[in-house]
Amino acid sequence: MLIDTYGRVATDLRVSLTDRCNLRCTYCMPEEGLQWLAKPDLLTDDEIVRLIGIAVRDLGIEEVRFTGGEPLLRPGLPGIVERVAALTPRPQMSLTTNGIGLQRTAAALRDAGLDRVNVSLDTLRPEVFQAMTRRKRHDDVLHGLEAARAAGLTPVKVNTVLMPGLNDDEAPDLLAWAIAHDYELRFIEQMPLDAQHGWKRDGMITAGDILTSLRTRFTLTPESRDARGSAPAERWIVDGGPHRVGVIASVTRPFCRACDRTRLTADGQVRTCLFATEETDLRTALRSGAPDEEIARLWKVAMWGKKAGSGLDDPSFLQPERPMSAIGG
Ligand code: 5AD
Ligand code: SF4
Repeated sequence: MLIDTYGRVATDLRVSLTDRCNLRCTYCMPEEGLQWLAKPDLLTDDEIVRLIGIAVRDLGIEEVRFTGGEPLLRPGLPGIVERVAALTPRPQMSLTTNGIGLQRTAAALRDAGLDRVNVSLDTLRPEVFQAMTRRKRHDDVLHGLEAARAAGLTPVKVNTVLMPGLNDDEAPDLLAWAIAHDYELRFIEQMPLDAQHGWKRDGMITAGDILTSLRTRFTLTPESRDARGSAPAERWIVDGGPHRVGVIASVTRPFCRACDRTRLTADGQVRTCLFATEETDLRTALRSGAPDEEIARLWKVAMWGKKAGSGLDDPSFLQPERPMSAIGG
């Protein structure tokens, strides 16, 4: 299994399938000029399936999440899902997507074996969507969400980042909307992972701000600690239930002690944390003919080096070189 020096065990693998995206969220990417990963450096579908196979057979991974950039932009996605579903043991499989293209693909992905989706949506207002993502695709996301629910990719979770002056007044509206559509809403604190290095602690919308705003319209009761497990989201029961709302407070209430994740980038590097500054190259090993045991060993060594925390609280914190779009959410 994958274990670190603090006794944490990774059972959740996040696989980034591409660093490209059809949106340009301001907290993630610049308008233009971001350098993409080079094509030859990207893992092939076969290489990805092989690495996931090693992870589930030899390393105890139970859950696989596909991320990006935007993972629906990867043409081989349905095939990858189908082949991962055929592995023994079969891992749980989910997808973190911006929702564009889901209308077209949700049913096929479900048929291929995908279990769930997380869709990113920051606003109910088309003009704010355009300001935040620099694209006019709000309707496509809403249709994608509906298609995901119709296809049974449930529970459909919605991820929202609140940005000051843009959508920070929308938390209660978003929650009312999510409840009406049976989506599980989770707010994510903005993290210093943007390619432009523009993140500032001052002025960011905190978990405290979000809860205060929600409580103007809803009664929130904390869910029991046991229910949380290693999930990064703290959850609250809304108005006595059954609906819940989550907050992922990576900055103001980090949950590193319970972290059960390991990450694989689209170019074949293991990262033990979103905020890691070191990576372990599996691609070179793969392409030089290393057997499964050797790759599993390299992955275990990487895990053993996992740091206690993100280091966000430390004045010497340095943002990782790689932007979120090339790490995977
Ligand atoms: N801070 C917080 N969340 C982010 N996401 C992308 N960049 C950031 C950031 N800097 C979110 C996306 C998506 C998920 C993958 O991560 O909105 O929901
Ligand atoms: Fe694309 Fe997600 Fe980054 Fe937005 S946050 S630009 S949807 S990768």
